[in-house]
Amino acid sequence: MNKPQDLPLAAAAAAAATTGGDAALDAFWMPFTANRQFKKSPRLLAKASGMHYWDADGREILDGCAGLWCVNAGHTRPKIVAAIQAQAAELDFAPTFQMGHPLAFELAGQITRIAPAGMGKVFFTNSGSESVETALKMALAYHRVRGEGQRTRLIGRERGYHGVNFGGISVGGIVANRKMFGAMLAGVDHIRHTHDPARNAFSVGQPAHGADFADDLERLCALHDPSTIAAVIVEPIAGSTGVLIPPQGYLQRLREICDRHGILLIFDEVITGFGRTGQPFAAQTFGVTPDLMTVAKGLTNGAVPMGAVIAKDMIHDAFMDGPEHLIEFFHGYTYSAHPLACAAGLATLQTYAEEGLLTRAQQLQGQLAERLHALRDAPNVIDVRNYGLVGGVELAPRPGEPGKRGFEVFLDCYANGVLIRTTGDTIAMSPPLIIEPAQIDQIVDTVRAALGRVA
Ligand SMILES: Cc1ncc(COP(=O)(O)O)c(C=O)c1O
Repeated sequence: MNKPQDLPLAAAAAAAATTGGDAALDAFWMPFTANRQFKKSPRLLAKASGMHYWDADGREILDGCAGLWCVNAGHTRPKIVAAIQAQAAELDFAPTFQMGHPLAFELAGQITRIAPAGMGKVFFTNSGSESVETALKMALAYHRVRGEGQRTRLIGRERGYHGVNFGGISVGGIVANRKMFGAMLAGVDHIRHTHDPARNAFSVGQPAHGADFADDLERLCALHDPSTIAAVIVEPIAGSTGVLIPPQGYLQRLREICDRHGILLIFDEVITGFGRTGQPFAAQTFGVTPDLMTVAKGLTNGAVPMGAVIAKDMIHDAFMDGPEHLIEFFHGYTYSAHPLACAAGLATLQTYAEEGLLTRAQQLQGQLAERLHALRDAPNVIDVRNYGLVGGVELAPRPGEPGKRGFEVFLDCYANGVLIRTTGDTIAMSPPLIIEPAQIDQIVDTVRAALGRVA
């Protein structure tokens, strides 16, 4: 195997660092990246194992964010690697339109075994964004097949992130999407977000105040009439818009209002799924069962792209009507339940089970909370939020330069051997669930040092 130093791009990165740019990096238009800044000073990851990455120069970097919230069992885990390798040689592709292959059924069955009771059906996609589109379409079609086709409205939440496709950015509540991409889907509205620093700053775990923010859904029911609303989608914990933990009782209240009005509740568990909150899913941690759940990321430990919608049986069963030769749900992706992804998913679930990873956050969350909240006195920290193995440290933005301080902290941590993520001026931490206590200390110490250096 190549040592990182042998890789051709290592030379390009070195050249770019000294010349201020390199043609070898030119063609890749990078997603969600400050392309010009990156290409002047590239951060190239070349190898990974367990809790660590190594960059193109062979420098070790502790992974404080599980890649992008996906590598929950740590990197290049042997069983997952072997399963993908073997599957690639055995059955590379099999259609799942009017055909099937055994691993798809096996994986679906195993997912339902760890899902909340009554959520017994799995529809495969290739990403979180596709899972969101699938869930939204499923909700609309569910009402339609039951004779309530007038329920066409979709409700999201301010500061929600549901991926990048048109349905997801429409129900999402991110200003940049609204600015860049126009009017998006019609018939969408939003309840207010739950961030309330005046009452909840520095809450340990779930904030005490804000169950009543759920009542905003009643306002939209009064405005639109509940009989026009198909579904409400929220992230149990919002990650991409700054680590927002649900106030105590908030998700319960949303569930009650949805039930009262026949509205489906969708939990977007793309980042909270697969052990992040100390149970397989946040639905179980917070004791609220949605009707549909979107997942991705940790489903295959990030090793092969895959997502899924986990549905209550009653949703699926509503479609199983009419002539048997007809397709019941007119939707699917060429790569739904791709054999390599299924093999990776099965090996991932096995690894999680063997190592107790889906509940390991319960053992570590106390230490993470204690260490994170001690950052309260560090420069520019205006809030600290945590739940399970999720941490958020919000910094005061520099006047006129929102996001710049956060970005500089990210760069400083990276230069000092720790990968974190920042969204705006909030530092987000979501390490692999195999993290050891000393590594939690290393992440927080590195962040503290960075806060001291970044003015
Ligand atoms: C809550 C949530 N939904 C959806 C997505 C989109 O997932 P993907 O990037 O796999 O399309 C993300 C990605 O971070 C997410 O955090």
